[in-house]
Amino acid sequence: MKASIIEFSPSGNTNHVSEVIKAALEQNNINVQLVNITGNEKYFSTNNKRNFLQETFEEHDILFIGSPVYAHHLQYHVKELIENLPKPMNGYSEIAIPFITYGGISSGIALDEAGILLRKSGRKVPFGMKVSSSHCMTRAFMKEEFNKNQPESKLTSTIDELVKRIKSSDLDFLTDNSKHLKYQNIGTYLKANIIFKEKVWHEKRYPKITIDQNKCMKCGKCTKVCSVCHLQQNSTKSIIKNMNSDCIHCFNCVLECPTKAITLVGDLEKAKGFMEKMINKAIESPATCLYPNLK
Ligand SMILES: Cc1cc2nc3c(=O)[nH]c(=O)nc-3n(C[C@H](O)[C@H](O)[C@H](O)COP(=O)(O)O)c2cc1C
Ligand code: SF4
Ligand code: SF4
Repeated sequence: MKASIIEFSPSGNTNHVSEVIKAALEQNNINVQLVNITGNEKYFSTNNKRNFLQETFEEHDILFIGSPVYAHHLQYHVKELIENLPKPMNGYSEIAIPFITYGGISSGIALDEAGILLRKSGRKVPFGMKVSSSHCMTRAFMKEEFNKNQPESKLTSTIDELVKRIKSSDLDFLTDNSKHLKYQNIGTYLKANIIFKEKVWHEKRYPKITIDQNKCMKCGKCTKVCSVCHLQQNSTKSIIKNMNSDCIHCFNCVLECPTKAITLVGDLEKAKGFMEKMINKAIESPATCLYPNLK
């Protein structure tokens, strides 16, 4: 059996889950191709994403797709990625398993969105998984990163269960269970669709980055960690913003810059206050879960 995993992981949590899935599959004699589009210049600069995916993907019997939750939604680059997946034919399986990581506040409606899009692409979704991880955004402006140090044992046992279910099934007879990814109540759907419009939040709500060219020593580190190739160096090695790929506020650059030339503008006290309110209300249970949830 051959599996492909495709992921977008700006701050590395989703990538960690992908690596654990890969190791568990390989231990069960399933070959794995792992494709990570994070910071991939070729992927972010092409208008023909379908072609990129067609050229990159090897044939597989099962496909895994990993994404972070941004503003209660499946991160929009992953939505675009699913919409551009090659058709499930000619060696590409019709079985797809989405997985998401979120920062312990709310997984929102991301897993359901992934299931719906995968169904639309002609695939069956027998399982889906959400994983409670650290909240990467809080690294940039809170005292400490919220929800870090989640127990690794919970992640490995959930993935072991997923691999067990795959191994004990005949792939040809796996049925679609995407309706089980609709685990949130109507209030969460309303909040996600009315309040948390991801692109609007990027444009208007999240603190913006600014670069002090006087402090910049042109080391290029920020361009290497930029998850969407928004930051680039020009011919004099000064940092410029690529307006064809918008900033998605992962804040890797802020944390990576050795001279603190990259800072956040906006009302940070308000952002902190809002985040604290969300953290105090965070009660998602179960936090990490494989769907269908048989417990
Ligand atoms: C712009 C942005 C929006 C986010 N929105 C949410 C959210 O709605 N709920 C939540 O629990 N975590 C949220 N997070 C935290 C991420 O979902 C979490 O840290 C995730 O594991 C990041 O995955 P990655 O490390 O693979 O990038 C957000 C993070 C960022 C940067
Ligand atoms: S990481 Fe900081 S110092 Fe280095 S190029 Fe980027 S902005 Fe300049
Ligand atoms: S510019 Fe900085 S905050 Fe924006 S996507 Fe790139 S690394 Fe993340």
